[in-house]
Amino acid sequence: MTPQDFSFLRDFLRSQSGLDLADDKRYLVEARLTPIARRAGLADLTALINAIRTSADARLKYAVVEAMTTNESSFFRDRVPFENFRDVMVPRMLQARAARRELRIWCAAASTGQEPYSLALMVREDSRLNGWRVDILATDIAESVMERGKAGTYSQFEVQRGLPIQLLVKYFSQKGDVWELDPTIRRMVRWQKFNLLSSFAGLGRFDIVFCRNVLIYFDRQTKAEVLGRIAGILEPDGYLVLGAAETVVGLTDRFQPVPDKRGLYQIAAPGAQVVPIAPLAATMRSA
Ligand SMILES: C[S@@+](CC[C@H](N)C(=O)[O-])C[C@H]1O[C@@H](n2cnc3c(N)ncnc32)[C@H](O)[C@@H]1O
Repeated sequence: MTPQDFSFLRDFLRSQSGLDLADDKRYLVEARLTPIARRAGLADLTALINAIRTSADARLKYAVVEAMTTNESSFFRDRVPFENFRDVMVPRMLQARAARRELRIWCAAASTGQEPYSLALMVREDSRLNGWRVDILATDIAESVMERGKAGTYSQFEVQRGLPIQLLVKYFSQKGDVWELDPTIRRMVRWQKFNLLSSFAGLGRFDIVFCRNVLIYFDRQTKAEVLGRIAGILEPDGYLVLGAAETVVGLTDRFQPVPDKRGLYQIAAPGAQVVPIAPLAATMRSA
């Protein structure tokens, strides 16, 4: 791959999915895109990049974008966000939404579904929410991982990562070498393909947004824009949950951290101290 090809691909991916490809990720590009080239009957990566550059084949372009996503996930990943859900967000919402008895949650980069299903399992197990209508929307840019999420089937390895054994026994049944999630839990989650770079109009409003482990792949400007759009669809007393390596600090003044609750944010109160945006050169990130 020539430097020009790499640079074209980097611009293409940034514009399509926000992915900010670091210079040292050439090996990743080759590993992920060579199979796409083969499947499309193209000789090599150079031919694939030329095809993207010159043709209007939307499916091929989408296949490239999708192949470059990283879809790592696990049940109750990083534990703390789910403890915060149980101990901070649900108690607050039980009070604040007592009249409506309705909760709207969005998992904005849901991948193969472990995150929205972890929340669905918590909701089902939480007697405080009996009689509440809890809507969980799971979205992702990558169709193939969403299909896996919708199916709700997980390997032995996947159910062993973070899922408490009592939940496995109670809500999953073993079918051959996979574990299938109970349909009543699967039906608690709505799935929709959604690109975080697109307009949020039409998504509705949410009480809680989980947007975890996706902003790390974006450049500063894209992170700031996405955070601004999330602020626009979050209820004024709602919560934003970010991944362990993500923060709003230095990116936006629309959110403020919830004190002593790692990764948890709320809409900044009017007049709250504006968080200065650090100079671009100060950012070090990788794809
Ligand atoms: C590492 S996974 C995170 C999954 C889950 N949130 C977690 O923390 O376990 C990142 C997901 O973000 C999705 N993604 C990447 N770019 C996106 C975009 N522009 N819009 C929506 N989803 C995107 C990827 O397809 C991938 O499934």
